[in-house]
Amino acid sequence: MFEYDVCIIGTGRVGLPLGLSLMDVGVKATGVDIDATMRESVNEGRMPFHEPGYDEIIARKEFKVHGSPADVVPNSAALVITVGTPLHNHIETDLSQIQRVLTSLCPHLRKGQTVLLRSTVAPGTTSYVKKWLERNTDMVVGKDILLAFCPERIAEGLAHTELRSLPQIVGGEDEQSVEAAAQLFGRLAPEILKTDFITAELVKLFNNISRYINFAVANQFALIADDFGANIYETRRLANHDYPRCNLAMPGFTAGTCLRKDFGMINEWSAYPDMLLSAWKMNEFTPAMLVDQLMKRAKIHDSRVAVLGFSFKADTDDIRDSLVPKLCRYIERQLPMEVRITDHNLPEAIHEPSASTPLRNWAVSDALEDVDCVFVATNHTGYHDVLVELGKNRPNAWVADIWNVGGIDQIFYKAGDLLNSEVTS
Ligand SMILES: NC(=O)c1ccc[n+]([C@@H]2O[C@H](COP(=O)([O-])OP(=O)(O)OC[C@H]3O[C@@H](n4cnc5c(N)ncnc54)[C@H](O)[C@@H]3O)[C@@H](O)[C@H]2O)c1
Repeated sequence: MFEYDVCIIGTGRVGLPLGLSLMDVGVKATGVDIDATMRESVNEGRMPFHEPGYDEIIARKEFKVHGSPADVVPNSAALVITVGTPLHNHIETDLSQIQRVLTSLCPHLRKGQTVLLRSTVAPGTTSYVKKWLERNTDMVVGKDILLAFCPERIAEGLAHTELRSLPQIVGGEDEQSVEAAAQLFGRLAPEILKTDFITAELVKLFNNISRYINFAVANQFALIADDFGANIYETRRLANHDYPRCNLAMPGFTAGTCLRKDFGMINEWSAYPDMLLSAWKMNEFTPAMLVDQLMKRAKIHDSRVAVLGFSFKADTDDIRDSLVPKLCRYIERQLPMEVRITDHNLPEAIHEPSASTPLRNWAVSDALEDVDCVFVATNHTGYHDVLVELGKNRPNAWVADIWNVGGIDQIFYKAGDLLNSEVTS
């Protein structure tokens, strides 16, 4: 009856790996995306971003992405919506991408199809989609067309393994919808956990928000340890060591499109400062704290400053919602002679939305030559060796290393200290 088993609407960092993984297990999959550059890359068999495990699958050129829903939506049994769900500048969910997708799908929907919402959404959004479908088509959800919310819980960089290892939550309000979703995702996930719309929406948000709060606690503890003249890395290591009721996270920059925004999807409904807002404040303070604390030890004004790493987390090329641009702006406020950004996962010109012109991405050796201060902003693999080399060439350069990449249990140190200390982690 349908040419394709599934059509992914929005083949970005979530949609594309899903489509490729489904295709890899024999599901007939295709996609739709409004981004022409993305389509060109996928259709030529190249990953448009870094996500391990997919280069060989995409090179087969069996997964095709189309520009218009008219090309494939009427011929697809299931439609999986994986477009972005950011926040507006205010603490308010931005539903516009979902609304645009629904409008574009509407003329092509047919009886017997299943709509699967997979973007991370504010509580109540799947009910909104249900009402929208029933108002704008002549179909009844659960009878003519099926609908379920199936949240994506992978971590970027681990999609290939986690799509096959994480249990899949399926939220639906009728048996047929839940069964249809379970059948599709059962091709990948080892276990299907069935529930209703609202519970499934909250599971995803609670997963991310609890992570966000854990990192905020780690950052707060780093400040507390510093206030008491204690060492956060040693304190954390001892607190966690063979102790089953404590799992303190590392301090660090906590951001990215998911963690930072997802708390807002709950917080928009609250008038009062709460624990979620405090976590946001704590995580957002980290760049300012590093600049402020480094200035107590070293001069940033008129100095040459290098920033190691620009993406929002280790070993990815994703700069969306990274805290590093914010760190760079705080550094710039001190009027240094130069700020040199270096990130080996990014192209030579970094297009950062808040910058008026593309940023120069320095080669790491050039960035560190004759440098006075270094901020380790992202804990990319390889930076430990880079810092040791810096210790040999510029022993007096100051380093702000919240990730403890140097491994000497100090946030602030002189690069030369790395040569004299025993590495602990
Ligand atoms: N990135 C992650 O690790 C991750 C993990 C879990 C959940 N999520 C959630 O998944 C959703 C998607 O995130 P992402 O990181 O893949 O975003 P993304 O921006 O990488 O991908 C979204 C894609 O949708 C396309 N698109 C937008 N509007 C469209 C339309 N009208 N029709 C067709 N295509 C359209 C965009 O061009 C883009 O390629 C978000 O809700 C996010 O919170 C992301």
